[in-house]
Amino acid sequence: MSESFDLVIRGGECVTPAGVERTDVGVRAGRIAAIGDLGRAPAAAVLEAVGLHVLPGAIDTQVHFREPGNEHKENLDTGTRAAILGGITAVFEMPNTSPPTTTAAALNDKLARASGRAWCNYAFYAGATVDNAPTLAELERTPGCCGVKIFMGSSTGNLLVPDDAAVLSVLRSGMRRVAVHSEDEERLRERRGIAERAGDPHAHPEWRDVETALRATTRLVALARQAGRRVHVLHVTSAEEIAFLGANKDIASVEVTPQHLTLAAPDCYDRLGTLAQMNPPIRDARHRAALWAGVANGIVDVIGSDHAPHTREEKARRYPESPSGMPGVQTLLPLLLDHAAAGRLSLLRVVDLVAGSPARLFGLAAKGRIAVGYDADFSIVDLKARRTITDAWIASKCGWTPFNGDTVTGWPKATVIAGVPVMRDDEVLGAPAGQPLRFFEAWK
Ligand code: DOR
Repeated sequence: MSESFDLVIRGGECVTPAGVERTDVGVRAGRIAAIGDLGRAPAAAVLEAVGLHVLPGAIDTQVHFREPGNEHKENLDTGTRAAILGGITAVFEMPNTSPPTTTAAALNDKLARASGRAWCNYAFYAGATVDNAPTLAELERTPGCCGVKIFMGSSTGNLLVPDDAAVLSVLRSGMRRVAVHSEDEERLRERRGIAERAGDPHAHPEWRDVETALRATTRLVALARQAGRRVHVLHVTSAEEIAFLGANKDIASVEVTPQHLTLAAPDCYDRLGTLAQMNPPIRDARHRAALWAGVANGIVDVIGSDHAPHTREEKARRYPESPSGMPGVQTLLPLLLDHAAAGRLSLLRVVDLVAGSPARLFGLAAKGRIAVGYDADFSIVDLKARRTITDAWIASKCGWTPFNGDTVTGWPKATVIAGVPVMRDDEVLGAPAGQPLRFFEAWK
């Protein structure tokens, strides 16, 4: 071949729609220009990938980066650095910032803040409130918006759409898939005394019990059918919801997090205390097994990290005053590769959960597979590397991970975005050049 390339990724095991094949990938102008033996083709840069696996860029469809308003926990610079160090090429960021992302002004402010400061590609959710439904159809069409998010139960921040009438008006207000935090607010309020009396995070899955999650999810799916609107149920935690959502695949997609697949009660609360506190909670091993069954049988569509950093000082408050959430954007891919090494899922399933499926579900243009014409975003990983996850490696401002000290098999070796290596061997390279993501359904 005599064409020249900006970058050739040479000799890696590439995960393409044809399977896993040892091949070169040629990149020109930020896009994949050729896949095949590019042995003698001139290239401005070469990335040697022999012995490594070249995956389509991993997308984390649920992160909280705290800017504006809580930059002492995280900001768009530190959050996206953490992402690329963890092999993530794009993030969808949540609206429970301060102010929340519930207006065009707030959304445009986030887009402006990310420009020139984000190390990976990005999109922002618009937050639903009890009275902004009339504006959401327009908001969700803003370039760089990944859709609407509803909190049916209270979590961090003050975003909340608790009752059926308000949820229905949000679901009737646009057309893209709506992402939902599904816990029943009324039941949360009734049962908060359980947490207060216990003063111990072991009570977290009892306060925010399976019925709290299942009741909201059942209501949500009925309302989605009434509105004729697709929904995406975030961080599903229970066997009962997996069974219910498995019977509703035509309208509801399913996210689980690496935390819920890796940790289990009571051990996580014994070891980690409030560091393991998140909403919805980590439950016992029966539920974790059901989430794995959902990964195996296809009920689970995507894995998102729900990266939700809080400082150690904040986490040290007495439960339940301690905030809920754990960082996760940097550990998502290492944990999934480790689970793959342990035989819990295949590499192809990992790739579908974090690349192909997010692109399909959310209508991402030119992302999620290694194919000519697609964007040249790659997560290049060493499936054999044995590494220990440490707090010192964590780039998030919070400076800790619940997986500190855990040794994993499988590690991101390089992150390439638009044909440019932005991370190599745990080093961030160059300058922040992340771009807003493009969606098929976001037209003006
Ligand atoms: O544990 C959580 N933390 N769950 C959420 O839904 C929000 C998140 C946060 O923003 O801290």
